[in-house]
Amino acid sequence: MEPLVRTQGLTLHFGGVVGADNIDFELHEGERLAVIGQNGAGKTTFVNICTGFLKPSGGRVFFAGHDITALPPRIIVHRGLARSFQLPQLFLEHSVRQCLEIAAGARARRMSFLRSLADSVDKYEIDHTLELVGLRDRADLPASALPEGHRKLLDVAMALMLHPKLLIMDEPTSGVASEDKHALMATLMGALEERRVTCWFVEHDIDIVSRYATRVAAWIAGRVAADGPPAEVLRNEQVRREVLGSA
Ligand SMILES: Nc1ncnc2c1ncn2[C@@H]1O[C@H](COP(=O)(O)OP(=O)(O)O)[C@@H](O)[C@H]1O
Ligand SMILES: [Mg+2]
Repeated sequence: MEPLVRTQGLTLHFGGVVGADNIDFELHEGERLAVIGQNGAGKTTFVNICTGFLKPSGGRVFFAGHDITALPPRIIVHRGLARSFQLPQLFLEHSVRQCLEIAAGARARRMSFLRSLADSVDKYEIDHTLELVGLRDRADLPASALPEGHRKLLDVAMALMLHPKLLIMDEPTSGVASEDKHALMATLMGALEERRVTCWFVEHDIDIVSRYATRVAAWIAGRVAADGPPAEVLRNEQVRREVLGSA
């Protein structure tokens, strides 16, 4: 089957710093990929290239078989590749429900001839999506009133309104108290599974990685140093030494 994402020789240097070093990578539908790596390893750079926020100096990105290299982010999102951010990009002055309406509007603008139909579908879908991420009873609060964990959930809920095939989440549990991380991930992963969205997430907490990923890729200095089943990658010698700092 055609991979959902495929990169060929993706390369980007920032002056003397290696952001991405000739990366060949594939992601298949249904995978839950955890990307691990030290700070500065290039995890976010790779996400930024694949989602159109950075232009590579070399190489190509394909999504569902189509070349999307350096297309603008909003076009890539409409193709079905959505992302959430390490610091959620919310409309803080709006209510939780309005944030989802805005996201739904961003999708519907592409089919404005169906506008009135879309409005009624959206109401149902917004309620269902809020339910799915456990924010139904917070719908009328301003996004600014939500604690960090709930902001991450809202960020993902907004991404789901765009009907993605793949959601990339950059450090979904960062800034969330360690005792709340598992509950957050359980909710996020449950929501993605229900909507049949393939998932790739950047994560530092190895407990979370082992619990939720079906595959792990370890980034070192702009390259994929190890990639495979979680148990295998997490006991890889180089990964233990250079990523986990534990061997
Ligand atoms: N826009 C940029 N301009 C210059 N250097 C950058 C930029 N983005 C990332 N870098 C550098 O590229 C390297 C990889 O960064 P990043 O992808 O953010 O790592 P990670 O997400 O793994 O922590 C780092 O050395 C970082 O300072
Ligand atoms: Mg990063």
